[in-house]
Amino acid sequence: MKDLRLSLIGFGVVGQGLAELLVKKRTLLEERFGLHVTLVSVANARHGFIYRAEGLDIPLLLELASQQQPLTRHPNVQYWASALDGLRATGGDVLAEVTGTNLRDAEPGISHIRVALTQGMHVVTANKGPLALAGQELLTLAHQQHVQLRMESTVMAGTPVISTLTEGMAGARVRSVRGILNGTTNYILSAMAAGRDYAEVLAEAQAQGYAEADPTADVEGFDALAKTLILAAVGFGHTLKPEQVYRKGITTISGEQMRQAMNEGKRIKLVASLHAVSAFGESPLEARVEPLALPLSDPLARVDGVMNAITFQMDTLSEVTVIGPGAGRLQTGQGLLSDLLAIAQA
Ligand SMILES: NC(=O)c1ccc[n+]([C@@H]2O[C@H](COP(=O)([O-])OP(=O)(O)OC[C@H]3O[C@@H](n4cnc5c(N)ncnc54)[C@H](OP(=O)(O)O)[C@@H]3O)[C@@H](O)[C@H]2O)c1
Repeated sequence: MKDLRLSLIGFGVVGQGLAELLVKKRTLLEERFGLHVTLVSVANARHGFIYRAEGLDIPLLLELASQQQPLTRHPNVQYWASALDGLRATGGDVLAEVTGTNLRDAEPGISHIRVALTQGMHVVTANKGPLALAGQELLTLAHQQHVQLRMESTVMAGTPVISTLTEGMAGARVRSVRGILNGTTNYILSAMAAGRDYAEVLAEAQAQGYAEADPTADVEGFDALAKTLILAAVGFGHTLKPEQVYRKGITTISGEQMRQAMNEGKRIKLVASLHAVSAFGESPLEARVEPLALPLSDPLARVDGVMNAITFQMDTLSEVTVIGPGAGRLQTGQGLLSDLLAIAQA
């Protein structure tokens, strides 16, 4: 039985989703994969970083979190106020980094990831900021340290997009990528296509928890842009700056534009795209996030609601489309779990 010592930084929706999966799938991991995961440390912003060399009691941690109790109530733990200090002092085999996405400077996640990689830990993450802003730098650091940096959940949660690109289609060259990479905007656009009003549907999406109280990152296309930057790094090996991506959100789409698209047999979708351009200008990639009217013959046109989808044009496979959920507690936890298993089996 292989034992993997896991540190989990970020214990919100996704961190707790991964923890829950580690409990639910414990027998499967042991019997099918010969893997035992020991959660040695957990951190959040409010309560700091706790560590127990013999392993933490995950159901107790989930119970404490559900009751808004400090994680430090867990018995027999060592404590650091800062996750970075705790991680430096304790380490482990793998860091799961699931703090919030920050597209300004990628903190605090990028520091957690740099420290983990530097001290020889593998990293799995759902945090888009570090990979979007410094994907190549971090992947190079992981390579130099002979460890893995895996990020399945950063694009379409646990739906296998990154591994499809890097492992499932290994050896194929990507020509272009087009995707519906944000569930909130797809939910709004799908409802608008059925005749509903933008403001009304946004309020409904907020009430149902699909959209944040401040929906800017979704409706203005920043979330899809972050995923586009990650795909540029992973699929094309290029670091793009956010300002190199043309970005237009969905806030100015009118009911009239939706009706016109429908009358023409089309559907308006927020499409993120990357195309290799042959005449190399400043960047060898054209990257865009924008609403486009797609004909129904396009596989992306019929992907509705909170579902996400991505279409790759590959030199050896022509067109490959992956459709699936792009968010959610267990859906995102699944992506982290599959990354953990990939590390354990390497
Ligand atoms: N939710 C999804 O469906 C989804 C899907 C794909 C990707 N993601 C990405 O996954 C990441 C986590 O998302 P989430 O929904 O779980 O967010 P969340 O519920 O807001 O959780 C973020 C966690 O990070 C902790 N944190 C923040 N700063 C920290 C610091 N300096 N040290 C230690 N912990 C810190 C927070 O602590 P407190 O609890 O004390 O505030 C919280 O526990 C984000 O980057 C997000 O973009 C999420």
